[in-house]
Amino acid sequence: MIHKIGVLTSGGDAPGMNCAIRAVVRAGLRYGLEVYGVNDGYKGLVEGDIFPMDRNSVSDIVNRGGTILRTARLREFKEESVRQKAVDNLKKLGIDALVVIGGDGSYMGAKKLTEMGINCVGLPGTIDNDIASTDYTIGFDTCLNTIMDCVDRIRDTTESHQRCAVIEVMGNHCGDLALFSGLAEGAEMIITPDHPIPEEEVMESLRKLHDSKKSRAIVIVSEKIYPDIHAFAARISEQTGFEAKAEVLGRVQRGGSPSAFDRILAARMGAYAVDALLDGKGGICVGMVNNKIVDYDIYEALSLPRDKHISMLRLIDILK
Ligand code: F6P
Repeated sequence: MIHKIGVLTSGGDAPGMNCAIRAVVRAGLRYGLEVYGVNDGYKGLVEGDIFPMDRNSVSDIVNRGGTILRTARLREFKEESVRQKAVDNLKKLGIDALVVIGGDGSYMGAKKLTEMGINCVGLPGTIDNDIASTDYTIGFDTCLNTIMDCVDRIRDTTESHQRCAVIEVMGNHCGDLALFSGLAEGAEMIITPDHPIPEEEVMESLRKLHDSKKSRAIVIVSEKIYPDIHAFAARISEQTGFEAKAEVLGRVQRGGSPSAFDRILAARMGAYAVDALLDGKGGICVGMVNNKIVDYDIYEALSLPRDKHISMLRLIDILK
């Protein structure tokens, strides 16, 4: 039987993390548990920055972006001696179990902590949607809507000036943000790690578009494909007839008030995580598959193949 649980956020922040924290705290208290917050992710765990939370600590945060517990990336957490400090700090306070809200890097830390005696449950908090064990991660929907808002605005000026807009979005080696926003925006071209397009083909297609009297084009590109997106846009200008301008949306994509979808997803997952810990589970991560909240062993989750959304790609092609 557990009595005290902790909650932390780790890795890149994502809108909806606060809703997940709130759900963990409120559900934990409701079931008679003591709940502790950990500041700055695994760093705070190692440094002992751990404090008790009550229901008021999570009042008025459902609408707030970022994470009230702040976040960090701690590479050293891979080392057992560093993790041991975290375990010692938790044991000192009598904390039996932990909810870790973050991306797949954070999941590995959660699994390792479980193996060292602290049951952990991972919640998928990242804008990237790069976790195979869930259809959607917390933060993805909000981020997608932010991208849409930005691209809508860029579209206005792109049309006025009859240009080609090359827009780089985040994703960290996962193309979902580019693919989904590309479909939502009817982009002329979408370039992602799963669906790369050779540069010659990009130029050829844009040249044809330009020659067919298309006055403007939108190209959405995942980050980390082109080392210099501005140089890529310059090559488009030289080779296609379009005047191209590159825009890097950057961290604007990670901020802002979470969408209804992310708030509800986070609430469902947070409450599920507490239930799982009360059932004595650990080393698992929570996902939403076909609108059902489910859990997977973390190692299994990390080895699942990611959906490459082939049917979505077909749809994009049909609607061109
Ligand atoms: O994982 C979320 C994410 O925003 C990625 O899309 C991006 O590659 C990375 O984090 C950027 O991280 P940071 O803000 O630490 O540079």
